[in-house]
Amino acid sequence: MDPASNLYFQNLKGRGMRTMEKRIAILPGDGIGQEVANNAVKVLKTIGRQFGHTFHCSYAPVGGEAVDKKGSPLPEETLKLCQESDAVLFGAVGGPKWDGASAEQRPEKGLLQLRKSLDLFSNLRPVKVFPGLSAHSALKQETVRDVDFVIVRELTGGLYFGKPSGRQMSGDEEEVVDTLHYKRKEIERIVEKAFKLAEQRNKKVTSVDKANVLESSRLWREVAEETAKRYPGVQLEHMLVDRAAMELIANPRQFDVIVTENMFGDILSDEASMLTGSLGLLPSASLSENGPGLYEPVHGSAPEIAGENKANPLAAILSVAMMLRHSFRMREEAEAVEKAVTEVLEAGYRTADITGLGQRSIGTKQMTDQVLFALEEDTTTAGIMAAYA
Ligand code: IPM
Ligand code: MG
Repeated sequence: MDPASNLYFQNLKGRGMRTMEKRIAILPGDGIGQEVANNAVKVLKTIGRQFGHTFHCSYAPVGGEAVDKKGSPLPEETLKLCQESDAVLFGAVGGPKWDGASAEQRPEKGLLQLRKSLDLFSNLRPVKVFPGLSAHSALKQETVRDVDFVIVRELTGGLYFGKPSGRQMSGDEEEVVDTLHYKRKEIERIVEKAFKLAEQRNKKVTSVDKANVLESSRLWREVAEETAKRYPGVQLEHMLVDRAAMELIANPRQFDVIVTENMFGDILSDEASMLTGSLGLLPSASLSENGPGLYEPVHGSAPEIAGENKANPLAAILSVAMMLRHSFRMREEAEAVEKAVTEVLEAGYRTADITGLGQRSIGTKQMTDQVLFALEEDTTTAGIMAAYA
């Protein structure tokens, strides 16, 4: 396209809109985290250019990379950069290289510390089956068609952080302990988030617990009941976690917003990803009450394909869309990214993880390029339409 006309259309696109300046910490991490984060940044920059925003991106090491370079999975400078940013884009952490490390030196510890330090208690994991990809699901097409729900996972409490936690010898017996601890306030604030979200969606909250066994779950259930009274327009249902694991496979269309504690949410969200056909499509947002949010693909570092240009960048790209929406209140920009991704999938472009029989796959970079083309094309169309309006 002629650069002059491109500029003309950009100006039209930005008409009447406020332009913003934002600082974003980019933490690519390990394995495919590097590739997917770097490609997602291209999408962020393109959106910035098209809508007239300035996105300042600063990079910092985290996870195994940071252990190697700085001796800690979350170096102080990395945390400081995140605290001083408006949002964080996170790739992935972990790999066999660091499997033998002590608990404090594990790459995953960097992510957990970051969640705790930024008080990212609210983890949103949308599960949406893209039209055209339902055939790729592990389940029957009719079971997964139109699935569209969000898992709201509590992210800074429960078994992941409870004390005591550790291993010791008691006489000649070895003992281990992990603690599932919650304060009422911690449950209240996450359940509240779920109800708020359901109000804007299909008005149903499924609170998942293990109230037939766990004390923490009984309090969780009580809090869910109390919160529901303040949201008369939202339907509340309780479901035991084992039942929820089954219902996710048997009848996933029943869900709108699922709210649950940290460990249950970890497990159920990996299970739910299989409805969509690939972990490579699922974005996530981790939010606090006031500070910067963190955005990351749900998938891990996939060391077996790292550096091979095979990883699916769409989960990271969709995480950028969530950043635009949740941290920057840029709804139009977020929708532009999501629309571009949908178009690229509808046009049949596939990375290896979502390739069906007889289909060809393209690489990480090529998939990103397709999203960038789709963004440019939409901008042009919007410009032409505006010019004739
Ligand atoms: C996730 C991951 C993390 C978690 C790991 C990497 C610590 O599985 O984000 O779901 O368990 O929370
Ligand atoms: Mg997980």
